[in-house]
Amino acid sequence: MEKRKIVTLPGDGIGVIVLEQAIRVLDAAGFNAEYIYGDIGWELWRKEGNPLPERTLELLKKHRIALFGAITSKPNEEAKAELDPSLQGKGLVYSSPIVGLRQHFNLDICVRPCKSYKGNPLNFIRRGRGNTIEEPQVDAVIFRQNTECLYSGVEWTNPPENVYQALMSHPKFRENFGAVPVADLSVSTRIFTRKATQRILTAAFEYAKNNGYKSVTVCEKPNVIRETSGLMWKMAKDMQKNQYPGIKLVNTNIDAQMMWLTKNPEEYGVIVAGNMFGDIVSDGFAGLIGGLGFACSAQFSEEGIAVFEPTHGSAPKYADFNVPIVNPVAMIESACMMLDYLGEKKICNSIRKAIADVILEGKVRTYDMMKMQGKPEVVENGAASTIQMADAIIAKLR
Ligand code: NAI
Ligand code: MG
Repeated sequence: MEKRKIVTLPGDGIGVIVLEQAIRVLDAAGFNAEYIYGDIGWELWRKEGNPLPERTLELLKKHRIALFGAITSKPNEEAKAELDPSLQGKGLVYSSPIVGLRQHFNLDICVRPCKSYKGNPLNFIRRGRGNTIEEPQVDAVIFRQNTECLYSGVEWTNPPENVYQALMSHPKFRENFGAVPVADLSVSTRIFTRKATQRILTAAFEYAKNNGYKSVTVCEKPNVIRETSGLMWKMAKDMQKNQYPGIKLVNTNIDAQMMWLTKNPEEYGVIVAGNMFGDIVSDGFAGLIGGLGFACSAQFSEEGIAVFEPTHGSAPKYADFNVPIVNPVAMIESACMMLDYLGEKKICNSIRKAIADVILEGKVRTYDMMKMQGKPEVVENGAASTIQMADAIIAKLR
């Protein structure tokens, strides 16, 4: 097997901890790779005034694939205060390096699978007929447009004159907001482009086709947000008709979807949405399968750059325990998504099966799975440490 080159971006806090464990599992499963460390995160901001140095961008440009842990972000004032004294007063402004990475490489497709493991005590349960308790098997994969929508940063408070005039040229704006003083206006624009919408929809349909999902659900709100949500829905309808007639297309509104996912989550498979609603609906589904300790993700660009990461952050509260306690599964699952992407089916299946076995057996559980508060004592009280969890998964590899 060829030796792969993988850029590792541990970042801050528990990102460092979980990434180290994921690599142990990959090694034990026989994945043949050289890991090339890249600097990213808070310490880089403090020492160099840039949390995403050029050399890290170069590394990813060269090797095209990265495992990312998590980074710490803090508000501007705190960021300034924590800068090395030699860098203070130079007008440096902090911005999140993971957002920077997404923008720099145009990582526009974000995939967030939410699949429940049998035996996970954090799985969603509901009351069924005759007061029975049911535990539906959740298997949803959310495709979130990752670069546009309300997160594109095109926004103003007290908009400049030309923007204000453009807004005033819209009859609804004139009628409803024309009397509001400009200084009292805050505007965030919701931008969808045909190209990016096409790409996220294609990714969702292709995934459904290749992985045996019968339907694709567009989760937006086209009845109210007629232009942007409407564009996505219309393009999805055309695409389904012309290219994917065998796949059922479903339209749900984000608000209704958030209710339905706690009633019949097992009925959803592939879901596709813009940036904001994709963020919301993927967090909703992640909650049904165990939350942040289980939520993994992948991001892809058109140029073939791929970054795999857990959706959780750096959890600084838990970063300095002598014995780390956080759940490494989200990171290990993200590494499995990387193996899928690389076509390493056998190794990937063996890791996923090992995770499933550990969870089903139920002997080794991290503190979140035992519904404990995250304190150093949890290990004495029977929770597995991060390393013990990784050990248990490694022991089940076949
Ligand atoms: P967080 O995701 O780091 O942690 C929130 C809580 O979730 C933790 O206190 C813990 O109770 C739980 N948790 C997270 N990961 C877990 C795991 N693997 N196992 C068990 N429990 C886990 O979010 P928070 O506290 O809002 O943010 C902390 C820092 O992380 C901030 O600086 C924030 O900006 C950053 N962040 C970075 C992200 C990224 O790198 N992609 C994403 C989200 C937040
Ligand atoms: Mg989020």
